[in-house]
Amino acid sequence: MQEVALRDGLQSEAGFVPTGKKIELVDQLTASGLKKIEVSSFVSPRAVPQLADAEAVFGGITRRPGVIYAALVPNVRGMERAIAARADEVNLVMSASESHNRANLRMAGEASFHAIQEAAALAAAAGMRVAASLSCSFGCPFEGEIPAATILMWCRRLHEEAGIRSISLCDTTGMAYPALVHDLVGLVRQSSPAVTLALHFHNTRGLGLANVFAGLDAGVVHFDAALAGIGGCPYAPGATGNLCTEDLIHALEVSGYTCGVDLDALIKTAQHLEQLLGHPTPGQVMKAGRRLRGPRADQPGPVG
Ligand code: COA
Ligand code: ZN
Repeated sequence: MQEVALRDGLQSEAGFVPTGKKIELVDQLTASGLKKIEVSSFVSPRAVPQLADAEAVFGGITRRPGVIYAALVPNVRGMERAIAARADEVNLVMSASESHNRANLRMAGEASFHAIQEAAALAAAAGMRVAASLSCSFGCPFEGEIPAATILMWCRRLHEEAGIRSISLCDTTGMAYPALVHDLVGLVRQSSPAVTLALHFHNTRGLGLANVFAGLDAGVVHFDAALAGIGGCPYAPGATGNLCTEDLIHALEVSGYTCGVDLDALIKTAQHLEQLLGHPTPGQVMKAGRRLRGPRADQPGPVG
């Protein structure tokens, strides 16, 4: 599980959350037992002013051993900043959609791929963990359906030509549905068997949790989610909140999976985040309270 509220969440907020508040949130997330937290983005501060304080946030957090503090990076400049800020892992981003790549990153897909190759080499030399995030893997707000062959091609190239073994298929504007998740994951696992897949869903059309269970069924155990369900890409029309972390953990735990997270602490932090943002957020368990019955005991297995 990678918690992405500080990055995917705050990048789409109208206001700037003060650096001290961001640091406090990361520390609370750390205390709740999450093992991977995307802390910020090293992108152009003109493109995403909400995250212009990435260095200061990385510099202010209290790092717990064993927790991975990650950052989104689009290019070599971002990679240099991530190394200087001592990020543990970088999520190197490009889009499976040519139109979305140009809108979001102002370059062609091939140019982004070359930037990723160069950035991945720098990360490897610095001993940093590397993952790739492939936006619009399940559809694009400009182009509609993205052919499976395109996703398979980028996954193969990211692995074979850029040496990246962890790839997140991102559903940037919530166009995924369970059958598509199941099919696409199956195809990627067949075509790039050495790649560890993660799934990044937005709940735009209410299918976030259903998609997770389709992903689990297809063999994926790594998911992104955002506290209180906030989030969205500022360069993708119609983008809305990420799959909500507390809702996901609650759904997994009542289904018998173990996440190693203090759900009550997480709910408190989600409520605190909602107050901080000053508007209602999409999270549901934070409003309903957690279900009291324990999990079924016949489906154990860690989900990360
Ligand atoms: N961090 C900080 N500054 C950066 C940067 C980075 N990673 N990459 C580029 N810049 C700066 C350059 O130094 C240059 O500054 P200057 O005008 O003061 O000289 C300026 O940004 C323009 O650089 P250029 O390489 O021409 O970039 P661009 O304007 O074509 O934008 C990106 C390309 C990728 C940097 C920009 O589109 C971006 O940051 N996009 C990210 C969007 C995002 O985060 N979306 C949501 C997450 S998926
Ligand atoms: Zn996202």
